[in-house]
Amino acid sequence: MRRLIRGGTCILPGRVVPLDVLIENGKILDLAPPVAASADEIIDAAGLYVLPGVIDDQVHFREPGLTHKEDLRTATRACAKGGVTSFLEMPNTKPTTTSQAALEAKLAIAASKCLVNYGFYIGATPHNLAELVHAKRTPGIKIFIGSSTGDLLVDDQAALEAIFAETTLPICAHCEDETTVKANAARIGGGKTYADHSLIRDHEAAIVATRRALDLAIRHQHRFHVLHVSTAAEVDLIGQHTKLITAEVCPHHLFFNVDDYPRLGSLIQMNPSIKFASDNQRLWEGLQTGLIQVIATDHAPHTLEEKAQPYPQSPSGLPAVENSLALMLNAVNAGKLSLTQIAECMSNAPAKVWDIVGKGRITPGYDADLVLVDMDKKQTITNESQETKSRWSPWAGETLTGWPVTTLVNGEVVFANGVIHEGSLGREIVYDHTLGGYWK
Ligand code: DOR
Repeated sequence: MRRLIRGGTCILPGRVVPLDVLIENGKILDLAPPVAASADEIIDAAGLYVLPGVIDDQVHFREPGLTHKEDLRTATRACAKGGVTSFLEMPNTKPTTTSQAALEAKLAIAASKCLVNYGFYIGATPHNLAELVHAKRTPGIKIFIGSSTGDLLVDDQAALEAIFAETTLPICAHCEDETTVKANAARIGGGKTYADHSLIRDHEAAIVATRRALDLAIRHQHRFHVLHVSTAAEVDLIGQHTKLITAEVCPHHLFFNVDDYPRLGSLIQMNPSIKFASDNQRLWEGLQTGLIQVIATDHAPHTLEEKAQPYPQSPSGLPAVENSLALMLNAVNAGKLSLTQIAECMSNAPAKVWDIVGKGRITPGYDADLVLVDMDKKQTITNESQETKSRWSPWAGETLTGWPVTTLVNGEVVFANGVIHEGSLGREIVYDHTLGGYWK
């Protein structure tokens, strides 16, 4: 099957070029093919930009075990609509993904349900070092240094030292210091309002845990990716340690701050918590200057009924996977970043951080995971239009300019003209950890 994307403008690494893209058997065959090149199907991309599909390296898709919130089909319908062609999912499902057997069970479910390409982290516990050492078919190890949704937590220093010393897979971590969080909660009597969440999981909690994780990574010279950076001080910390450390920021930490609690309440209750307007500002600068390499969502749906519970019973997490690219395209239109930076932070960089083979850029021989975007399209986010099973968005009511309009996964059209196509399935992501990560 040959498809030709004709008349679009391609976002290549560091370059914006009008180019046709010829696709054959799921891969990019040629850029700027001869005008007479034959194709079974022509996709008209006149007036559109062609970007490498988004690789979201931090999502919680809830299957198995928590499928009343989300499942791999609803989540990947949302991905298709949002221009996300590959995802890496976190281990806090039920059961947790903390063994090779659990990882392979998840991969088996994914093979029959995912509309986009899939991969799953293996989660660390204080007792599964042998599983972490021998894990295969995974981008890397996730450590919750600080508890969040679920009961995965490694806070013990000896256990953390052993993981950094004895494993070779890349490591990423949720960094919020458990001791600080508990002390803050005790000080304010457990918290009564949603806004208290940002007092309990405060700046100090994030900074202390990130400093601790960086110390481990540097002493053990172990590749390390800081998930969902939320404070200005962490941006500065990370900036001191390039060449070993990479970092990620999420849209909610860029766009929301504590001033939004009166309007949005528990909808923006997240771990790490949202912080101050000054943190938003520094996180944008981190992206603009390359101190932060990756944009990911931390898509973590809960039902609206669960979210409506009073604090602290209300769970932390929000869905974002179908709006993240549009939010960032809108930011491009507002002059905050360039399309080249979006393609870098949402596709090429995560592919490099996790040693993903054949993805992340528009190059002959690479997988045809592509998203066509219309930078002039204006659309308002509504709860009703969301594909995520939870059917809400903290951005509902916002009108964004710049939207994905067509998504291709391995050369197959999974979203076009507002319609999601379920006729093809995504594939397991392949990693080559000898590639050595982002800085190689
Ligand atoms: O707020 C969050 N919710 N942060 C996380 O790290 C986990 C997530 C979840 O799984 O609900």
